[in-house]
Amino acid sequence: MKIKKAVFPVAGLGTRFIPATKAMAKEMLPVVDKPLIQYAVEEAFDAGIEQIIFVTGRGKKALEDHFDRCFEVELTLKNKGKEELLEQIQELVPKTGTIVYTRQNEPLGLGHAIWCARDIVGDEPFAVLLADDLIQTGRPVLAEMVKKFDRFRASIAAVMEVDKDQTDKYGILDASQLENNIFRINDMVEKPNPEEAPSNLAIIGRYILTPNIFKHLGKKEKGAGGEIQLTDAMKSLLKEQPIFGYKFEGTRFDCGDKAGFQMANLAFALERPDLRDKLIRFIREIQKDF
Ligand code: UTP
Repeated sequence: MKIKKAVFPVAGLGTRFIPATKAMAKEMLPVVDKPLIQYAVEEAFDAGIEQIIFVTGRGKKALEDHFDRCFEVELTLKNKGKEELLEQIQELVPKTGTIVYTRQNEPLGLGHAIWCARDIVGDEPFAVLLADDLIQTGRPVLAEMVKKFDRFRASIAAVMEVDKDQTDKYGILDASQLENNIFRINDMVEKPNPEEAPSNLAIIGRYILTPNIFKHLGKKEKGAGGEIQLTDAMKSLLKEQPIFGYKFEGTRFDCGDKAGFQMANLAFALERPDLRDKLIRFIREIQKDF
């Protein structure tokens, strides 16, 4: 079965970015000149996804407008002869009917946000992308995971190794390595202290899930931080179905964290020919004071 639908939970409060996120979703923050959510949506389309499902909370309007046409801007760009920019903003608007919005009324946790999409997803495997996990890579992660799904026909989570003292920020795996970049997950625990962590393999924000996950999310059990956690539902799902971990290639930036967000901006800007030289000159200049 083909993975056609992708869920984007964008209803978190983004408290670490207040005041920027007071009235706007964290996923609308730009890395260089593109909102985080656009990177994730492009990754999904690149993986063959046909339907985008946004689970929104506050900041819905800016997000909706971003993926819709804006005749006023288009006309101005046209009149000014800025054809390239005009094309760019027209291209980012998906075909009518490709995007579906639903609302998470209360930010009860990532697991709850995904559960809010249950009726739209229906009875088929689907992808989940957390836009604040931005990955710089030559091998887009979701497209690779779709290939793995075709092979294993089971849920898959993207994983990476983290520093041992960072385990309390992630869902951490107890897993057996099957191949170079594939793990079979035995168990998982949300945000364990380093002493209790079964490994340093952490789940990050790309998943392919079978629809059975909704049954477990529907129990609405509260986990770490008093939130309904996806990790806990996946842990229950493990009792009935296998789940695999895919260790992706590339660098992941935690854009939900201020330092991670700044690093992402720098790393992505350094890839841009129009910005690279200026930035390198600036870094060389300021590093004398470090
Ligand atoms: P985070 O754990 O980063 O939480 O969410 P947050 O609320 O966005 O940010 P902080 O910690 O307060 O700064 C991970 C992902 O899950 C979504 C977020 O939008 C983000 O994409 N999420 C989280 C929801 O959609 N709903 C929730 O109730 C919680």
